[in-house]
Amino acid sequence: MKNISILFLLFIASWLNMNAQQTVIRISTDETDLILKTAPNNRLYQAYLGEKLLNESDVQLLPHYIAHPASDGSVTPRGWEVYPASGAEDFFEPAFAVQHNDGNMTSILYYKSHEVKNIDGNAKETIIRMADNVYPVEVTIHYMSFAKENVIKSWTEIKHNEKKPVKISQYASAMLYFESPQYYLNEYSGDWAKEAQLSTQELRFGKKTIDTKLGSRAAMHAYPFFQLGLGQEVQENQGKVLAGTIGWTGNFRFTFEVDNVNNLRVISGINPYASTYELKPNEVFKTPEFIYTLSYNGVGKASRNLHQWAMNYQLKDGKGDRLTLLNNWESTAFNFDEKILGELMYEAKELGVEMFLLDDGWFGNKYPRANDQAGLGDWEVMHSKLPNGIPGLVKAAKNAGVKFGLWVEPEMVNPKSELFEKHPEWAIHLPNRELYYYRNQLVLDLSNPQVQDYAFGVVDKILKENPDIAYLKWDCNSPITNIYSPYLKEKQNHLYINHVRGLYNILERVTNKYPHVEMMMCSGGGGRCDYEGLKYFSEFWCSDNTDPVDRLYIQWNFSQFFPIKSMAAHVTSWNKSASIKFRTDVAMMCKLGFDISLKELSDDEREFCKQAVKNYNSLKDVILNGNFYRLVSPYESEHTSVMHVSQNKNKAVVYAYDIFPLFGDKRYPIKLQGLDPTKKYKVEEINLMPGASSRLSENGNIYTGDYLMKIGLDAFTSSRMNSKVIELTAQ
Ligand code: DGJ
Repeated sequence: MKNISILFLLFIASWLNMNAQQTVIRISTDETDLILKTAPNNRLYQAYLGEKLLNESDVQLLPHYIAHPASDGSVTPRGWEVYPASGAEDFFEPAFAVQHNDGNMTSILYYKSHEVKNIDGNAKETIIRMADNVYPVEVTIHYMSFAKENVIKSWTEIKHNEKKPVKISQYASAMLYFESPQYYLNEYSGDWAKEAQLSTQELRFGKKTIDTKLGSRAAMHAYPFFQLGLGQEVQENQGKVLAGTIGWTGNFRFTFEVDNVNNLRVISGINPYASTYELKPNEVFKTPEFIYTLSYNGVGKASRNLHQWAMNYQLKDGKGDRLTLLNNWESTAFNFDEKILGELMYEAKELGVEMFLLDDGWFGNKYPRANDQAGLGDWEVMHSKLPNGIPGLVKAAKNAGVKFGLWVEPEMVNPKSELFEKHPEWAIHLPNRELYYYRNQLVLDLSNPQVQDYAFGVVDKILKENPDIAYLKWDCNSPITNIYSPYLKEKQNHLYINHVRGLYNILERVTNKYPHVEMMMCSGGGGRCDYEGLKYFSEFWCSDNTDPVDRLYIQWNFSQFFPIKSMAAHVTSWNKSASIKFRTDVAMMCKLGFDISLKELSDDEREFCKQAVKNYNSLKDVILNGNFYRLVSPYESEHTSVMHVSQNKNKAVVYAYDIFPLFGDKRYPIKLQGLDPTKKYKVEEINLMPGASSRLSENGNIYTGDYLMKIGLDAFTSSRMNSKVIELTAQ
């Protein structure tokens, strides 16, 4: 007992001593503090990550380590090192691993200096310089904190000055630590047409990894985002949660490791699989941004944090408008000609949408793109189908009174193409094994600067020759197969990383030269959806699955991380047993488009769609720029509901969907959120079929925001695949 007391006193004394010489770095938002502190040996530790501390004196008092009693009764201070490297005394997964020129595989990083820059009144960048004291290796850690939105993003820059290249085999963007009685992980997995499916698990001792090795269509099976319930399962409106996402349009990895004392570390970054990087002296290796928010009121708040941040800072044209459109993919696939497209353009006009979008199948002559087996790479218009070329289509769209958008897939090639005949060495493929294909195509080698120039040139030529093109749908239908770059030769370990960097180089050039062209990020549905990609794309295609029932889940899940205006949703003929109203009401919740021929619709259905587009246009500002609330989860009952509220709380749109209610299903009123309790709102059901009248019992009435949030609207029914769209207007 006496020994323990002495040890404890020594521990306190050393703690006080440590605090005397500490550097304290406080990275804050309006709601969260991340506090880093140095130890006397000048190593840097995470001292705190959580709800914002009210008193600066408390910040000073925080120890730089967590104290754990060891088996002999002594107290072992174990720090949470901010960027632990392999080979030091931490026995868990490191953030960083480097092999030096002499073969040594250890590193320890010491704090050198830091600076804080004001980006604007709201955002700050904290830059911390760290270096090893034995080898000339430096790591600079960047933290960007966004006060109002409560978002922090962080990344690192790795550099060295050894004589020859060093090998880096781990290079996380960020390492975060948590101490909580339980950890629950929400992860999102999927496949073509079943994107972003939610599953939950409790994390216990050991490691859980979410990663992808798909290379280009990287998020097809695992999504680059997660939520973590700290102390309880993730809930919509209560509890402490971390929502995190990595901005990397390629292989990523999240590692969640619960250690021997039930602390959790979360390591996020590029997936180092097959990617040990040989870093040349003085070359800077920049890791992608890990973006996260902590919410103390569930994931609803976390989503709104990310939405607002993305619209203010990250998403291309985040504050701008979006074009409603009519696409031809679902109605024609590859079977169209000028006449069919011309008619669709007039249908777009009749519908009231702003643009016609021509999809796949418009190019290739020697190997016509009549299906997905040939022509990819040959970006000359198919003369037999479209004798007047793209200019003819742009003109036809103008005559019809709509804008024109075009589908491209510049990163890919069909082996049956003139491009492949001319430049087989531009495709990623193995020279010495039988090839296998995904969707009959190969991925172009974007690590090769010549191929980057080619891909940029494809898009540049189209846009230069057709300056009136308003929009590109940029597709990417294959993961990287037959992984071998003829360009990189013996440096194959650089392929996965340099490929993504090559993609960014192309996108950067396209966006710099054509900043006003809206672009949709598409990848065989939603196989790409990350915040670095979204710097170049104003929206992404959530899924080829446009069955409205499936979409309710897919949209619910993507909305956890991405703002509504970035999520494209189209009305199609998937699931014709659902009414056109149900299909439209589901798509109206996001960025609305149509991919259906009006010829398939009855007169009433056409009229309905036209009125729905008018309603959408009049509510666009609320839907695209408002705050989004998920009210009733489709995972918890046979009903679901969401709503948008304008920033000034004067307008709101509520959606109520009945999925497959069973007989006798108990229904509850929908309690709204985000309204001003003191304002009075008129409740009006919109999007009614011609001649139908509202069955909403509250329709036409006026209620206070308080009533609507505490008592709610009785908007669900017992009908299957039934929906209501309700407009609220402050009086
Ligand atoms: C996959 C996309 O998700 C579809 O919308 C369509 O553009 C096809 N590719 C075209 O090949």
